[in-house]
Amino acid sequence: MIGGGYTGLRFGRAARDVGFAVLLTSRGERVPEAGLHWLHFDSNSGESGEAGSLDGITHVLVTAAPERNASGGSPDPALALLKPMLQAQPLQWLGYLSTTGVYGDTGGSWVGETSPTHPQPGRSQRRLEAEKAWQNSGLPLQIFRLPAIYGPHRCPFASLREGTTRLIHKPGQVFSRVHVDDIVGALLHCLSLPPARRPGVINICDDVPCPSSESLGYAAHLLGLKLPPVQRYRDIEADLSPMARSFWTENRRASNRLLCGTLGYRLRYPSFREGFQASLAEERAGGVAP
Ligand SMILES: NC(=O)c1ccc[n+]([C@@H]2O[C@H](COP(=O)([O-])OP(=O)(O)OC[C@H]3O[C@@H](n4cnc5c(N)ncnc54)[C@H](OP(=O)(O)O)[C@@H]3O)[C@@H](O)[C@H]2O)c1
Repeated sequence: MIGGGYTGLRFGRAARDVGFAVLLTSRGERVPEAGLHWLHFDSNSGESGEAGSLDGITHVLVTAAPERNASGGSPDPALALLKPMLQAQPLQWLGYLSTTGVYGDTGGSWVGETSPTHPQPGRSQRRLEAEKAWQNSGLPLQIFRLPAIYGPHRCPFASLREGTTRLIHKPGQVFSRVHVDDIVGALLHCLSLPPARRPGVINICDDVPCPSSESLGYAAHLLGLKLPPVQRYRDIEADLSPMARSFWTENRRASNRLLCGTLGYRLRYPSFREGFQASLAEERAGGVAP
């Protein structure tokens, strides 16, 4: 795993549980855990430690987002650093986590893997360039485009309890989402397919894109809390961070037809309703925040 963060660690644990020997990278110190071996890797500083000499690896998942590259070199410094090592391995599969942000704004229309890409300048544009660089690497690549990731400790429960949730209304605006365990499940499903049946680009998302007021309302209902007063997007747009504004200026519905129809993956959490329930149950059962 290049990057053992929220999704990487969850995938690493699942891969360990089905019998893989798992190596994960981090820029910092990580708590030791049975069956997971941590390596130091920082694509910014170029420090790759042991990660530069991993003989015999067969499967790799890249979860680290491409960093801004001030030198104007590779669109993904991680690829530039690791490519020679990866090309020398008996690799069977390389998964790369990307974002549905590469499709840009579609005014709420559905996007599939063959839809045109119109990323906003900045992060999404860099991401599309990183996708292309990985595609040109000659490695056995599958790109997975993800919408907003949620799961235990990444639901609106904490902000609702703290009273910091903002309930924003923008007419017609929807967001797509995916539970982290459906990313894990879809990745395991795809890497178990014969190579000829693995599409190069796949969206992983649930069945129910919807306004954030709907998902927040359901989270509040699960907690027995009231939602804060609604704010109109046009009234508060100027107060939002550039990152938040970039999310609100894009409106699209990500389609999972390829994953769930053609490739036969069955979602564990078809909507935020089942996903929020399971996440809350896991948090209450004492699941440790990553
Ligand atoms: N979160 C979302 O809603 C969302 C939506 C769409 C797409 N995505 C994309 O999906 C991927 C996984 O998301 P996530 O939320 O699981 O990410 P995450 O928790 O932030 O994990 C990312 C991992 O990348 C590592 N990393 C970051 N910069 C690095 C660098 N310069 N060198 C080496 N490692 C680096 C981090 O390592 P450390 O342990 O060193 O911090 C971390 O383990 C990311 O590429 C993200 O951009 C996320």
